[in-house]
Parts: sequence; C-alpha cells; structure tokens
Amino acid sequence: MDNNLERLKSIDKKKLPRHVAIIMDGNGRWAESFGLLRSAGHVAGVKTLKRILTTAVNMKLEALTVYAFSTENWKRPLAEVDFLMHLFSDYLEREKQEMHSNNVRINFIGRTEDFSPLIQRQIVEAVELMKNNTGVRFNIAADYGAKDEIVRAARKLALKVAAGKLAIDDINEDIFENELDTAGQPPVDLLIRTSGDLRISNFLLWQTAYAELWFTKTAWPDFSPEEFIDALIDFANRNRRFGAIINH
Ligand code: IPE
Ligand code: IPE
Ligand code: MG
Repeated sequence: MDNNLERLKSIDKKKLPRHVAIIMDGNGRWAESFGLLRSAGHVAGVKTLKRILTTAVNMKLEALTVYAFSTENWKRPLAEVDFLMHLFSDYLEREKQEMHSNNVRINFIGRTEDFSPLIQRQIVEAVELMKNNTGVRFNIAADYGAKDEIVRAARKLALKVAAGKLAIDDINEDIFENELDTAGQPPVDLLIRTSGDLRISNFLLWQTAYAELWFTKTAWPDFSPEEFIDALIDFANRNRRFGAIINH
C-alpha cells in the first residue's frame, strides 16, 4: 500500500482522474476456473471492492462509480440474483460504519424500486448516514442501465415542460445532465473493465462520452490496488484532446 502511494506521489496530481468508473466483471469465470460456484466469485469480488475503495480513499479520488448490478442482470437464474441481493444487503450492513469513518459519501445510481423493502431501507439509511461527508463520492450502480437512466431523465424534463416550468428551447446539455443520477458530479475520466471483455454493457453512456478506456484481462476478484494504480498512471500519461489539437 505505502509503495503504491509512493508511486502515485510521483505523478502530477492534476493529471489524475477526478472520476473513475469500474465495470467489476469476471467473478463467475474466476470462480469456475477453480471449480467453485459462481457465488464464491461474487464473495471474492466484494473483498476486491473493499480494497479498491480504500485505495480511492487514500488517494483522495473525487468520485468512484462501480457497476454492481445492471438492469440486464435480472435475466440471470433466480438463485444467482437472490445471492447477489443478499450479498449487497450484507455488504451495506457490514461496511457502512467503516465507510462513514473514512468520510466516504455513498450514493446509489439506478432504479432501486424493484429491490426488497429491506435493501431499499438500507440504501436510504446509508445515504442519510454519509450525506454530510466530504470525501470520495462512492456511487454504487445497482439495477442500473444507462439507457434507462437517460429515459428517466427525459421523462423528468418532459414533466417540467408539461407543467410549464421549463421551455423546450432552454433544454441543453447542462440541463439534461442535471436530471441524471450522477447530477452534480464530474464526468467519468477513466473507465476500467476487468476480465477481458471489450464492451460497455449499458454503463454510464452519457457520463463516459469522453472517458479514457482501460481494459484488463484480470478477473475482478484478482484486481489489486497495484493494478488500479497502473491504470491511473497510464491515464496520467495519456493525451486528452477533446476534439482539439493539443501537442505534447
Ligand atoms: C460481475 O461478474 C458481477 C456481476 C455482474 C454482478 P460476473 O457475474 O458477470 O462474472 P462473469 O462475467 O460471468 O465471469
Ligand atoms: C456488467 O457485467 C454488469 C456488472 C458488472 C454489474 P455483465 O457480466 O452483466 O455484462 P455482459 O453480460 O458480459 O455484457
Ligand atoms: Mg460478466
């Protein structure tokens, strides 16, 4: 850990990402490679998440968004969905005090209304507990789909127009962004996906418009703070042009 922080210190702070998003993929394949049940992979994945959040806290990252459960993940067998729900609930219960003491401000993006009453209550309580914290913004994407988020945002704007509170001509990118679940947060600078697949899987389509992409074959349970910092260092060395011409 200290060694990692030393490596980070060697980078110009201004070159580090403000907002990192992670598609935590590969739990099932990781478990199957050891002849274990997929559920064992999800348990191991939660441990990785804890280590990566700690790294984000130590390096004072502004925002970390992790993909925990997609709107498409309901298609999985009921037993796996149930297991993931219990794990999510246990995670919130077990980790919330430590997150709070680390000044983490938790936030949930996605639908949440199809979760059990218990999980919905835990979500509200965790947000309430940490709402005045000033450290890393930790967004958990749960029952999240970017297309769903964009449609919900469009509906909220349509309601405002119908109620006469907003003129169609006043709708612009900033106004639209304010209706997204990540309102008020910086755009994603760096998107990481573990486990070898090269796709976005309906994650943060708006917010990653200009994100740098970083893929690794490492399965999420094996993803380490060292590799996380490798990604950050790689990011720091990239030339972000945003459509302009910038020579380095
Ligand atoms: C990511 O691992 C966790 C969730 C999607 C909930 P997977 O469960 O997708 O693992 P693989 O991709 O099947 O190996
Ligand atoms: C994306 O992973 C969702 C999460 C990591 C929660 P999936 O494993 O569901 O994505 P696909 O099915 O490979 O696209
Ligand atoms: Mg997967």
